[in-house]
Amino acid sequence: MPDDPIGAPAEDGAIEELLREERSFPPPESFRSQALVSDRHLYDEADQDWEGFWAAQAAQLEWMEPWKSVCEWELPFAKWFTGGKLNVSANCLDRQVAAGIGKRVAYYWEGEPGDRRTITYGELLEEVERFAGVLYSLGVRKGDRVAIYMPMIPELPVAMLACARIGAAHSVVFGGFSADALSGRINDAEAKVLVTADGGWRRGAVVPLKANVDLALDQTPSIQHTVVVQRVGEKANPGGGLVPMREGRDHWYHDLMSPSPARRGPEPMDSEDLLYLLYTSGTTAKPKGIMHTTGGYLTQVTYTHRYVFDLHPETDVYWCAADIGWVTGHSYIVYGPLANGATSVIYEGTPDYPDKDRWWEIVERYKVSILYAAPTAIRTFMKWGTSYPEGRDLSSLRLLGSVGEPINPEAWVWYWQVIGGGRCPVVDTWWQTETGGIMISPLPGVTTCKPGSATFPLPGMGAEVVDDQGKKVERGGGYLTLTRPWPGMLRGIYGDPERYRETYWSRFPGRYFAGDGAKVDEDGYLWLLGRIDDVMNVSGHRVSTTEVESALVDHPSVAEAAVVGMNDPLTGQAVIAFVTPKAGASRDSAHGEVLRQHVVEKIGPIARPKAIIFTDDLPKTRSGKIMRRLLRDVAEGRHLGDTTTLADPAVVEEIRERAMQSPAEE
Ligand code: WT7
Repeated sequence: MPDDPIGAPAEDGAIEELLREERSFPPPESFRSQALVSDRHLYDEADQDWEGFWAAQAAQLEWMEPWKSVCEWELPFAKWFTGGKLNVSANCLDRQVAAGIGKRVAYYWEGEPGDRRTITYGELLEEVERFAGVLYSLGVRKGDRVAIYMPMIPELPVAMLACARIGAAHSVVFGGFSADALSGRINDAEAKVLVTADGGWRRGAVVPLKANVDLALDQTPSIQHTVVVQRVGEKANPGGGLVPMREGRDHWYHDLMSPSPARRGPEPMDSEDLLYLLYTSGTTAKPKGIMHTTGGYLTQVTYTHRYVFDLHPETDVYWCAADIGWVTGHSYIVYGPLANGATSVIYEGTPDYPDKDRWWEIVERYKVSILYAAPTAIRTFMKWGTSYPEGRDLSSLRLLGSVGEPINPEAWVWYWQVIGGGRCPVVDTWWQTETGGIMISPLPGVTTCKPGSATFPLPGMGAEVVDDQGKKVERGGGYLTLTRPWPGMLRGIYGDPERYRETYWSRFPGRYFAGDGAKVDEDGYLWLLGRIDDVMNVSGHRVSTTEVESALVDHPSVAEAAVVGMNDPLTGQAVIAFVTPKAGASRDSAHGEVLRQHVVEKIGPIARPKAIIFTDDLPKTRSGKIMRRLLRDVAEGRHLGDTTTLADPAVVEEIRERAMQSPAEE
């Protein structure tokens, strides 16, 4: 694999020097003096009275009826703020308008082609009230599920909030997923309505969302209606004209929204009513529908968004550069920021379109003060060198965040120095789709950081590293576990309570097992080491090895496949596939490309194997289990460990030769 020279630092070697000399980074003094938290009081409050602490956070929200108990915990099932009633859209919108900030900007939206919209809280409320009326008129009721498959346009948060208003759970499917992935998720949730768009823009090309929808809906009996936002127009249809609409099933968003539909007010919801489902990859081929409920979830995302990002809603301009199709966008573009009355930026496209300056142009235009991004993006910018932020005014930035995978110290220091100018704390935030919100992170103003460490559990959270036996590790490596329930925790896997217990609560009794390796250093700092299960992390997104293997063997030419994640300097991990073709099937690089494309069709572009290595055999134990560890060693060019349990040790040698000769690489 090519040796990618990333991280070519600032010419003068300043970053190497920082890495060498300075092992830890206290919050800059200029930041500390204005910070929301400048001593340890939040930690102390949570330590002294844990339930009281969470009750105080929940009390920041507006409740229609007060809760009776803070937390009911019957391992592994938690209920938070039971008896309480509230509505998430009312907390995000009506409450802000009633408080007199209806004219504040909720979203500065920027499309990839350069079109822009500014949407105030008042305008967002009106749009959501009306779209809730539209959904209602299409038969959506409290307790139903609505699927959403959209690009990053304002109608996406509108659709989510409209569902929350009615009390229907949304299931957002990332716009990069394929028709197959979409239909699987729709069927698991038995969604009644799908909200989508004709297409979206990505690197100047159209993502054909409606065409994918048409394929997916051939297999989804539960869908009665679709609502289609016209984002792209005629360019979305290679056949000419607008995208085809099916009579009786498909409706244009703009038609349903005018003349003005009857507005709908917020439905009072139980604290434990389902707010949304979000599907994530596990160790089997079938994605898990992670369930998040109402009161606890909103409490956690509101609290964490405020304190982790040191949010001053009157003055900050906050930009989370994730896609709303992932949990990061749910919690930190939609629900947390709106519940806090923040002003956010939403950008539709990629950082390199129309040129590599796009992000910094956006920061300059909107005077972004808080930027939340993924390590893979940061490493990409490092690769482009300093000429891109150069010439742009980034002086509005005062806080930087990172999420999705471990951030390597070089990237951390580059972010701090080149983007933050040394005056912005960097918060490395560890959490998961399952946790709903941030769990482990520095508290800006308080925590002294070490580049590459997510530091400590936030006030109210409990995290510990344990060994194989489940014993707490004081210093050294092990498995990351969470020791107590938390308000935003997943309430289960949709339709499969047993899988929930088995996946998260069976490995270490009494503890939630996150699936990550971690270590504790001599000062008690936590360092995340990546997944220890068969789940890869590609650009901060979870991809299951089994899911990619199933997609490969689904192709008629493939007999068997084994997939491993290989360390990749840019994306964290890259997907590498070892494929045994059926007799007579082609094994040239053109066929490798066919198989890669097949994976894209089954799952989506994030799962596309970087390399496909054809082999007559896979290394197996005598009991027939594929030894992925050896394949990972082969992919990464490492010395092979113990091969004595192999049925046929010669197989690895053969694979190794093939991997060196002709990987069908992109
Ligand atoms: C997995 C969760 C949370 C939103 C994005 C991903 C990895 C996440 C960090 C971090 C080290 C991290 C873990 C985790 N991860 N943040 N700051 N440092 N690793 O959500 O798809 O549910 O993935 O992402 O491995 O288990 P997700």
